[in-house]
Amino acid sequence: MNLNITLLVGTMTGTAQLCAQEMELALDDGDTQVETLLMDNLDSSVFSRQGVFLICTSTYGQGDVPDNARALYEDLKAQRPSLSQVRYGVFGLGDRTYAETFNFGGKRFDDILTELGATRIGERYKHDASSGVLPEETALEWCRQWLGLIAEATSSSR
Ligand SMILES: Cc1cc2nc3c(=O)[nH]c(=O)nc-3n(C[C@H](O)[C@H](O)[C@H](O)COP(=O)(O)O)c2cc1C
Repeated sequence: MNLNITLLVGTMTGTAQLCAQEMELALDDGDTQVETLLMDNLDSSVFSRQGVFLICTSTYGQGDVPDNARALYEDLKAQRPSLSQVRYGVFGLGDRTYAETFNFGGKRFDDILTELGATRIGERYKHDASSGVLPEETALEWCRQWLGLIAEATSSSR
């Protein structure tokens, strides 16, 4: 499938970046082209890129987005661009030990993107660091299924 994917990474200690690297390797096959961007220094204009978006972010503080994702998140809230053309998925990382705010980093992006008119493809994935399941392995499996859903959504909207 001829598709561009922009993979946006929010991370504090690199786990989400590792997941993103695995997903890029799995998804980028020549037909599907993946560009991975750390969220540092991005603003909401990144969503005017062609193709679909994959948000891969952890959670910090008290259910906050990681520091490197804050500027992008705050800009979405401040600028409130119309994102009705945007389709996206969310691979979130967190830890169930933080019961009240489990995976809120991914949730915050999901909520604001939906509010701005974007359409999520697939369920938001919520990795649990205390589960013993390696996030990069889950990421690999999850993103293949997600690509299948993107293919369905793309063919039904043609
Ligand atoms: C100081 C601190 C605060 C955290 N706060 C939360 C939280 O509120 N909710 C949550 O689900 N996970 C929380 N986590 C867990 C991280 O999101 C999780 O370990 C994740 O895998 C880290 O990914 P990263 O290396 O990409 O930043 C916290 C971790 C630390 C060290």
